Amino acid sequence: MKSNIFEKLGVDGSVFLDERHLYPDFVPEKLLHRDREIEGLARIFNLLVKGRKPHNVFITGPTGVGKTTVARFVLSEAEEFTERVKSLYLNCFEFNSRHSVLSGITNFLGRASPRRGIATDEIYTSMLESLSKAAFSPIIVLDEADQLFVSSEGQKLLYDLLRVTEFGKNSFCLVLVSNNESLAFSLDERVRSSLGEETIRFSPYSPEQLKDIFRERVGLAFLPSSVEEEVIGFVAAKCALLGGDCRIGIETLLKAGREAEKHGLRKVSLVHAKKAFESVEGASLLKGVKYLSAAEKTILSIVAKNGEIKSGRVFELFSGSFSQGMSERRLRDLLNGLEKKGFLLSEQIILGNQGKTRSFKCMVPAGLLLKEISKN
Ligand SMILES: Nc1ncnc2c1ncn2[C@@H]1O[C@H](COP(=O)(O)OP(=O)(O)OP(=O)(O)O)[C@@H](O)[C@H]1O
Ligand SMILES: [Mg+2]
Repeated sequence: MKSNIFEKLGVDGSVFLDERHLYPDFVPEKLLHRDREIEGLARIFNLLVKGRKPHNVFITGPTGVGKTTVARFVLSEAEEFTERVKSLYLNCFEFNSRHSVLSGITNFLGRASPRRGIATDEIYTSMLESLSKAAFSPIIVLDEADQLFVSSEGQKLLYDLLRVTEFGKNSFCLVLVSNNESLAFSLDERVRSSLGEETIRFSPYSPEQLKDIFRERVGLAFLPSSVEEEVIGFVAAKCALLGGDCRIGIETLLKAGREAEKHGLRKVSLVHAKKAFESVEGASLLKGVKYLSAAEKTILSIVAKNGEIKSGRVFELFSGSFSQGMSERRLRDLLNGLEKKGFLLSEQIILGNQGKTRSFKCMVPAGLLLKEISKN
C-alpha cells in the first residue's frame, strides 16, 4: 500500500504521532500472543459460518487480557467472510436486565422493540418470531455477563436464551464473556452445561508478551525514538504484577506521553511513566462507574468519603444530599447491588440492643473512585 507523507508527521512540540492509538476504544489490527484463543473461537464460529449448528461459548480470564478485543476481532472476521453471519455485541454494564437484553436482541433481529413499556414475556415471543424469519445466523455476545447476576433475573434470562439455543429450529450462538470464572458455578446445572459447551480461558500475559504488545502500540502512537525502552520494560513489569492487565499499561503510556509533553520534552522517560502509572493503577476496577445511575454514584461517593460507614448513616447522608427522595429499603437494595458489582464490601454488625446493621466500605481506592465519579 502507498504510504502517505502525513503518516510520519506528528504535531510540533508533541511526542505523539497519533495518540488515538492509546484510547480505550481503539481496536488494534494486530493482536499479539492470542493466536490460540483466536483460532479456538474461530473454530467454534466456523460451524455457523458453514451453516451448521454452533456451540455456545464462555470466554473467561482476568481483566485486561484481551477477551473483548479477541471476541470482536473474530466476529468481524466472520462477518467479513460471509453474509450468513451477523453479530450483536451487548455490554451488560449497559444492558443489565432481562428486559433490556431481550429487547436488544429483538431489535437486532429486525423488529423495533421499545426498551420500556412492553411486558418482558411479550418481547420474548416477539424475539422468537423475528428469529424464525431472520435471513442470517446471529451470534449474540453478552460481555461483562456477571453484571446480569446483580439482579435475580440473570438466571431467568439465560434460561430464555438457552430455550432458544437448545430447542429452536432457528437458533443463535451465544457468547458469554466474564472475568469471573466461577460465574458458571452459580448457574443451574442445565444452563451451565449448555452455555458452557465450550470454554475459552485467557491466561494473563507474561512480562515479555506485554512488552511486545506495548512496543507495537508505542510504534503506532508515538514519534520514532520518543519513548525510552526502559519505559516499556517498567510498564510491562508493573502490569504483569497486576495480573497481565494491558488496559492499565496502555493508559499509562498515554498519560506518560502527556506528562512529557506538559514539560515540553521530546522524550518520554521513566519518571513520566512512574507518575502516570500511579494515577491509572485502579483503572480496571473503575470501568463500570460510568454506567452507574446518579443515585448509585451518590451512594458510592458517600461511602468513599467516609471510610467505613453503617447503612443507616449512608441513608441520612444520602437523604441530605440527593434531591429525589428514596425509601430506606430501596437504598439498601442499591447498596447490595453495589456490593455485587464489586464496588463495596459489607460486614454485619450486631448492635448492643440485639439489633443488626451492616457497615460498608469501598473495595476501590477512594481517591480514584471520587475522581472517576466527578468525571461523568
Ligand atoms: N494481544 C493484544 N494485542 C494488542 N492489544 C491488546 C491485546 N490484548 C489486549 N489488548 C488491549 O488491551 C486493552 C484491554 O483489552 P480487552 O478490553 O480486550 O480486555 P478484557 O480481557 O476484555 O478485559 P475486561 O475483563 O476488563 O473486560 C484493550 O485496549 C486492547 O486493545
Ligand atoms: Mg472486556
